[in-house]
Amino acid sequence: NLLDIAVNNDLDLEGFGACEGTLACSTCHLIFKKEDFDLIEEPCTDEELDMLDLAYGLTDTSRLGCQVC
Ligand code: FES
Repeated sequence: NLLDIAVNNDLDLEGFGACEGTLACSTCHLIFKKEDFDLIEEPCTDEELDMLDLAYGLTDTSRLGCQVC
C-alpha cells in the first residue's frame, strides 16, 4: 500500500504513518486530486472514516494512505 511505498523509499514525511497502518492515527492522511481519487478503490471501512474525521484539513478526496492499495 501507499504507506509501504513511503516507508520503503525512505521518503521524508515527518510523522507520516505513526501507527504503521493500524488505523490508530491520522498522520497518513492524504488528499488526492479528484481524478486520482476516482481511480483508487472505493473506501472505506468505517474505521478509516472515523479516523479520517480526526484528520487535519479533511476534504472530499481525503483518504488514509495506509488504507489505499
Ligand atoms: Fe496510522 Fe494510517 S498510518 S492511520
